Amino acid sequence: MNPILQAQTNHKSIRQYTQQPIDDALLKQLIQAAQGAASSSFIQAYSLIQVSNKDNRQKMAALAGGQKWVESAAEFLVICADLTRVEHCSIEQGLGELEGNTEHFIAATTDATFFAQNLMLGAESVGLGAVFIGGIRNDPAQVADILNLPKHVYPIFGLCLGYPDAQPDIKPRLPVDVILHKDSYDSRRCAENVKAYDAQMQAYYQSRGDNQKTSNWSEQTAAAVQKKKREHMLSFLQQQGFLKR
Ligand SMILES: Cc1cc2nc3c(=O)[nH]c(=O)nc-3n(C[C@H](O)[C@H](O)[C@H](O)COP(=O)(O)O)c2cc1C
Repeated sequence: MNPILQAQTNHKSIRQYTQQPIDDALLKQLIQAAQGAASSSFIQAYSLIQVSNKDNRQKMAALAGGQKWVESAAEFLVICADLTRVEHCSIEQGLGELEGNTEHFIAATTDATFFAQNLMLGAESVGLGAVFIGGIRNDPAQVADILNLPKHVYPIFGLCLGYPDAQPDIKPRLPVDVILHKDSYDSRRCAENVKAYDAQMQAYYQSRGDNQKTSNWSEQTAAAVQKKKREHMLSFLQQQGFLKR
């Protein structure tokens, strides 16, 4: 396997870090490299906020549900979908304000997400550890307030970065045959596929180095979508100027 495929396969979220800071020049280089991600119509509709202020880190760790790694990571970046520059261009070119189209929301969200995944992988390639923090969407209005986010910007997730002080096990993914459909969608084997993966994940959860549990993928997944409905998201996004039509 070449080093990129190896890095992709070796990914694991890191939530424990040493005290070692990340060199500014390295962080800038990682961000610049991540910008090489593809961008829908080349709109580059994202920004990131580097949160260094300790109080603000503390607030975000708390609102994310007490995730202490938000405070302890060397860096905490909030990845935002950002259509402000796109709207500026549109107005300047005499084409008017953005209207909150769902398609623009999708483009900005995917742009930001591809950038973020590139950033995570780049960081891992130089020996850093990382974890995304969707927990900030527990209270996106407070995050927007703390970070002074204008209209047409919304925080998608945070990203903790730091030098790893733990090496958790790699989580086995769904088999390729389960996610790859040939020519048309095949829903016939959903139940048996999930059952087989449940057995694999149950064995993994029972045998991994830390945080062992007697559970499987179905239980975890069903509980996760129940717990994280975040009913406030639609009205928050609409307030920020997204998803109006
Ligand atoms: C969009 C997104 C949001 C996430 N939010 C959190 C989070 O708030 N806290 C956390 O500890 N992990 C978070 N994660 C990490 C996932 O739990 C993790 O990627 C998943 O369990 C697979 O484990 P692995 O990354 O170690 O392979 C998030 C991942 C993604 C992609």
